[in-house]
Amino acid sequence: MSKVYICTAIPYVNGNPHIGHAMDYLLADSYARFRHALGDEVRFQVGTDEHGNKVFSSAQKNGLKVEEYAEQNSAKFQQFIQKLNISYTDFIRTTNSDHVRRCQAIWQKLKPHIYAADYNGWYCEGCESFVTQKEYDENSGVCPDHQRSYQRLTEKNYYLRISDFKDEIRQQIENGKMEILPEFRKQEVLKLLEDAPDISISRPRKQLSWGVSVPDDEDQVMYVWLDALSNYITVLGYPDHDIGEFWPATAQFVGKDILRFHTITWPAILLGLGLDLPKTIVSHGFVLADGQKMSKSIGNVVDPVEVLERHGLPAFRYYFLRHVDTFADSDFTWEKFEEAYSHELANDLGNLVQRLATLCYKNEVGGITDTKELSPEFIELMERFELSKAFDLVWDKVQNLNKAIDEAKPWELAKKGEHAKVKEVLQSLVSQMLDMAYELAIFLPDTALRIQEVFGSDEVVRPPEAPLFPKDVAI
Ligand code: MSP
Repeated sequence: MSKVYICTAIPYVNGNPHIGHAMDYLLADSYARFRHALGDEVRFQVGTDEHGNKVFSSAQKNGLKVEEYAEQNSAKFQQFIQKLNISYTDFIRTTNSDHVRRCQAIWQKLKPHIYAADYNGWYCEGCESFVTQKEYDENSGVCPDHQRSYQRLTEKNYYLRISDFKDEIRQQIENGKMEILPEFRKQEVLKLLEDAPDISISRPRKQLSWGVSVPDDEDQVMYVWLDALSNYITVLGYPDHDIGEFWPATAQFVGKDILRFHTITWPAILLGLGLDLPKTIVSHGFVLADGQKMSKSIGNVVDPVEVLERHGLPAFRYYFLRHVDTFADSDFTWEKFEEAYSHELANDLGNLVQRLATLCYKNEVGGITDTKELSPEFIELMERFELSKAFDLVWDKVQNLNKAIDEAKPWELAKKGEHAKVKEVLQSLVSQMLDMAYELAIFLPDTALRIQEVFGSDEVVRPPEAPLFPKDVAI
C-alpha cells in the first residue's frame, strides 16, 4: 500500500462552473478510485482560485463585495463537485487565512531567487492592466473596450529567477522524474523551456489589490499564479507541517491551456523551496461545443447542470470519461450525448442487467459473492493514464456479456429441462457481470453499486425494481 496524492487545477471563481471544469474532476476522480481499489491511501485535493483582477472585476460588475462574491461562487463549485460524486478529501479556498499565511512563508523561502525590476509595457488605464505587444498591434494601439490609446508605463514587479532552475527542470522532464503526459505535450514544454523568461510574481497594490500581500513590501501584492500554484502544498500544511507523507504529488490533472504554469513556474517554485517535483502532470484536452471553443460571446456554452438534469450523473460521467478522449480535444454535442445514453447505457448495459437478472430470478441463481480483481490490461492502461481506453475495455466486457447470453441461450436450455446446465451458465455470467462492475466502479460508482446490489448478494438475484437507465426520460 502506498500513499497517493492527486491534485486538480483550481478554477477561478469569476463565474459558474462550466462543462470544461468537469474534466479535471472526473479524470482525477477515476484515477483516485483506481488507486483506492489497488489498496492505496489516497489524498485528493480540489478547490477554488479566488484572488486576482478577473475575480475582482466580476464582483464589481455583479455589484457585490469581492469577498461575498468569491464565497458564493466557491460554494457553487463545491456543490458541483459533490454533484459529480468526486471522491476528494481536501477542498482549498485561496482566500483561506492559513493558505494566505503559508503563501507569505513560501515567498520568504523563495527570496534568494526573487529580485525586483521595472516592467515596461503598454498599459490601458481603463482596464488597469498591461497588454502584450501583439495585442497592442492587433488593436492598433487603442483599447477596444475603452477607446483609449495605450500608454507606455513602467511599474515595479518582483520576478522569480527561472534561469536558476531551468537546467534542473529540463533534466527531470527528460529523465522522467517529472513525467508529462501526453508525450507531444512534453515536447512542447521542452521547447518552451528553451527560452522561458523570468516570471513576474507581483503587481503594485494600486493595480491589483485583491490578493496576498508581499511580505516586507506593503506596496506589492502577489501575482495570482504564485498564490494559486502554492495551494497544492499549503493544503497539506506546508510549511507549518512536514508534508513528506504525501508530497510529491502522484498526479496533477490540468487543462492544456495551463500546462506551462504547471511545468515551468510550478517546478521552479518547488525547486526554490527544496521540494521534489510532482511525479506526473496529466494534461487533458478541451471540451468543444460543435467543434468550437465554448464562449459566452458565441453563445455555445453548455451548462453542466442541464446535462446532469437530462439523464443524471452516470450518463454525465459516462460521456465525459468514455467519449471525451483523455488527452485530445473532443466535441460535446447533444446528439452524441443522447446517442451514448440510449444506445450504450440504456441498451447495452441497462437491458443486459435487466435480462440477466430476470433469467437468474426465474432459475433461482444467486449467492455469488467471491472477491473481484482489476484485470492486468485494465491496470496497465490506468497506470498510463489512458482513462478513456481503460473505460473502453470495461465496455468490451459489457458487449461480450451480451454476446455470451445470446450464444448460450439459457432459456432454450431451460425449456429442454437442462437445469444444472442453466445454473452453471448463469452463474458464470453473473460472475463476469460482477467482474465488469468492479472495474465499472472506477468510472460510474453509482451504477456499479446498483449492479453489485442486484447480482452480488447472498440471495437469489432479483431484477432491479426500476430500470438502471429509463429510456423515457423527459427532454
Ligand atoms: N485558476 C486557474 C488554475 C489555477 S491551478 C493552480 C485556471 N482556472 S480556469 O477556471 O480557467 O480553469 C480551470 C480548469 O478547467 C483548467 O484545468 C482548465 O484547463 C480547465 N478548462 C477550462 N475550460 C475547459 C474546456 N472547455 N475543456 C476542458 N477543460 C477546460 O486556469
